[in-house]
Amino acid sequence: MILVTGGAGFIGSNFVLDWLAQSDESVINLDKLTYAGNLENLATLKDDPRHIFVRGDIGDASVVGKLLAEHRPRAVVNFAAESHVDRSIHGPEDFIQTNIVGTFHLLEAVRAYWQNLPSPAGGGGVGGEGATKESFRFLHVSTDEVYGSLSAQDPAFKETNRYEPNSPYSASKAASDHLVRAYHHTYGLPVLTTNCSNNYGPYHFPEKLIPLMIVNALAGKPLPVYGDGQQIRDWLYVKDHCSAIRCVLAKGKLGEVYNIGGWNEKANLDIVHTVCALLDELRSRADGKSYREQITFVTDRPGHDRRYAIDAHKIERELGWKPFETFESGIRKTVQWYLDNQDWVRNVQSGSYRQWMEKNYVGLAG
Ligand code: NAD
Ligand code: DAU
Repeated sequence: MILVTGGAGFIGSNFVLDWLAQSDESVINLDKLTYAGNLENLATLKDDPRHIFVRGDIGDASVVGKLLAEHRPRAVVNFAAESHVDRSIHGPEDFIQTNIVGTFHLLEAVRAYWQNLPSPAGGGGVGGEGATKESFRFLHVSTDEVYGSLSAQDPAFKETNRYEPNSPYSASKAASDHLVRAYHHTYGLPVLTTNCSNNYGPYHFPEKLIPLMIVNALAGKPLPVYGDGQQIRDWLYVKDHCSAIRCVLAKGKLGEVYNIGGWNEKANLDIVHTVCALLDELRSRADGKSYREQITFVTDRPGHDRRYAIDAHKIERELGWKPFETFESGIRKTVQWYLDNQDWVRNVQSGSYRQWMEKNYVGLAG
């Protein structure tokens, strides 16, 4: 049994789906169901006894403590966070509350649980049946944004780069990473931290660049490119992020940090052009013109980081993980997924996924 937090969001729901597709080990999924949490992502697990969904806040130590005591998971994987940089600029408070204070309360509840786990004489291996003090893991899912912004000539972020977060979002994630590190150093809590680059793929909320461009293009709306569109991100298909987390959970060295990335540095404008070209091929505009016609340059994001790039050599060298998808294969699958799942998009945009949750999980919709 593992406890996943934030498992109704974009990456968390992909992680839960992949986990249960590959193993019979049950998952307790603790999620507050903010605007970003959508149980429709997990519709295929609705009647699956291996998935136990609990609506709750990682900052509520009594809820977390009860779940840990009742289910005795051998690991906690912490995805729960406020994740959108633009929202953190407009209203940072929720980011401080969940990403920093919430992570702190989660760590406290986990520490209390872990300290009381049995410690059998022979020790316990990772992945063994019951949770033991030796086998337990707390895996914290973080971001490359904590390292700040690179110039065009800088080498990619290594795990040893200093933290230089620039947005309220990245500062709050950086603070949570420091707390996780401190709980290992001070209390010996068996932690692992991953810092990943930009994900894309199914169930990505259409406030983020790639899904926003796909859904706006199809709706005939402008495709808003911030500033000159030459900011660079390092893109990773979400299923590859999930496989990296499974790999770190199974083989990662306690207290270590692992950078995860796709070796896919792309300028935003190139991403938008690629999405337009795929849509031109797969669902051409009625007037026969390219979706590129909808590109609109808009005011830049304040404090916009120019470039992120991940050096993912450590996880490859030490744990043998490499991404499976190329950007070309991953972006094609993603565009096709949005074309095939227009109902999901409509439900998210209209907010009717809240009614869907009420109907299918009585009492859960906010
Ligand atoms: P998301 O916004 O899609 O999902 C976040 C989930 O957390 C939602 O289901 C939400 O309901 C839940 N949540 C929020 N506050 C909560 C709280 N207080 N208690 C319990 N649940 C809460 O985010 P995502 O893109 O899936 O990101 C997941 C994690 O991965 C985050 O920690 C993020 O910082 C990190 N990350 C994201 C990316 C990316 O490209 N999306 C890249 C690297 C790291
Ligand atoms: O690097 C990892 C991070 O990637 C994660 O930690 C964050 O949770 C995740 O949201 C993402 O942050 P970004 O700010 O990089 O992602 P976003 O999709 O918001 O923006 C990607 C780039 O595209 C960024 O340079 C801003 C730009 N952009 C974004 C939007 C939404 C646009 O030009 N237009 C837009 O409309």
